[in-house]
Amino acid sequence: MSNLLELGSQNNRKAYSPQFENLIVDEKRAKSLVEGSFCIGHNYIGWRTSRQFIADLINKPGTIIDIGCANGFLLRSLQEWSDFELIPYGIDISELHIRQAKKLFFQTYDQAGHDLSGNFACASIEEAAWLGGHRLPAQYDFVYCTIAHTRTAYEEALKLVRPGGRLICGFYGRNEYAVGSPGQLEEKQLLLRRVARLKEQGCVFDGVVENPFGTGHIIAWRQC
Ligand SMILES: C[S@@+](CC[C@H](N)C(=O)[O-])C[C@H]1O[C@@H](n2cnc3c(N)ncnc32)[C@H](O)[C@@H]1O
Repeated sequence: MSNLLELGSQNNRKAYSPQFENLIVDEKRAKSLVEGSFCIGHNYIGWRTSRQFIADLINKPGTIIDIGCANGFLLRSLQEWSDFELIPYGIDISELHIRQAKKLFFQTYDQAGHDLSGNFACASIEEAAWLGGHRLPAQYDFVYCTIAHTRTAYEEALKLVRPGGRLICGFYGRNEYAVGSPGQLEEKQLLLRRVARLKEQGCVFDGVVENPFGTGHIIAWRQC
């Protein structure tokens, strides 16, 4: 077994599915999936260090949409990292990314037997209110979004959250500074100021979580 898979099974709360192990066992393929989700220059371990803390905000089974899902690898990873069963959906403004996401989920199925590749559509966050036109549900238990940089985008994302669900907004740094270094701390302050600016504009967040693994990423979330 490679170091990579050993690390996965030691540190994860549950073992990876064989299908996921197949995806990440080949380091070149894993790197291409990671980079296809904008985690440039990193391998699977770097990816997990950078994104796994998002899974801690998932507090029940249900549906999740990633607005700006890129190649879908974050959703696929959250399915493995979360303790809860997640049905993934995604939209992205880029047709190429949606093609990649559909390919990633091709012939993977939900409990009702639907091919999950049908859960992805090329759409912009501005069209979030018309997801029905893309044959996607109107609301979700979890809405993940890294592009809620303005109050308008925040409100579009919020509309997609089912009552009792959660809006989870990711704010990513450049992920290139050593843990605890002045660069990393400065970057974190910059991201926290972005959240503060959204709050000043009337956006509501119930909590802010900093990545405990040190990469300059934070999450602001709202319980609905
Ligand atoms: C940084 S990537 C995030 C990928 C993944 N969600 C993650 O967190 O790892 C941002 C994605 O948002 C998409 N995007 C940018 N503007 C968008 C818009 N207005 N509507 C939908 N997607 C958009 C980009 O094409 C890109 O794939």
